[in-house]
Amino acid sequence: MKLIKARDYEDISRKAANLISAQIILKPDSVLGLATGSTPIGIYNKLVDWYNKGDLDFSQVRTVNLDEYCGLSKDNEQSYCYFMNHHLFYHVNIDLKNTNFPNGMECDAVKECNRYNQVIEDMGGIDMQLLGLGTNGHIGFNEPSDTFIRNTHQVTLLNDTVVANSRFFDSLDEVPKKAYTMGVGHIMNAKKIILAVSGENKSEILNQVLNGPVTPLVPATILQFHPDVTVVADEAALSALA
Ligand code: GLP
Repeated sequence: MKLIKARDYEDISRKAANLISAQIILKPDSVLGLATGSTPIGIYNKLVDWYNKGDLDFSQVRTVNLDEYCGLSKDNEQSYCYFMNHHLFYHVNIDLKNTNFPNGMECDAVKECNRYNQVIEDMGGIDMQLLGLGTNGHIGFNEPSDTFIRNTHQVTLLNDTVVANSRFFDSLDEVPKKAYTMGVGHIMNAKKIILAVSGENKSEILNQVLNGPVTPLVPATILQFHPDVTVVADEAALSALA
């Protein structure tokens, strides 16, 4: 894994956005795998800035998002679709028809997971996948478990994830307990991966991801087996590095 040491959150945002920009410039019809959470917000802000300056063209870009909460509609303010629309898609010239999410309102999990697997396959896979890192080592919503799950699946969120994500909701009770997530296989099939990690609360888990044994108990450790991962992390996130 390549490690890019950034000073702080702002520096992560600029460096990771530069890598994504280069991808779009080199391949205007790139398939981007996108992530939500606090970490990518600064990256998306930079991409919007550079689009406004005329440096980026999203007209041919296609996207697949990692995950979506079950039970939240696309226009629910807490849905990941709403997040992406408001942080990136509504501000650039992407065709919304080319943006894809698991449908959190589909109750038939088998049907929805098959549909999303097909969406990713029909696009020919992912050129560049942006990832954040959960404090428990999750990527997307691939939670720590006994096995790595290859394809899109419905997951029951672990309590620490529900608690961590409750900061975006009015109360803990409002956090959905289930989600659909792209599987580890789709993530690992991406041609390039960027893992963005910020803050001291991620330092212990980032050390395990970079230096620990590969185990589904820390799902992001699987990235050690990918040939083209770039970790962009700030000094705080790197403070526990062995
Ligand atoms: C959520 C998302 C993940 C994200 C993680 C970390 O659980 N499903 O894709 O990486 O949060 O988020 P943050 O960047 O806010 O720490």
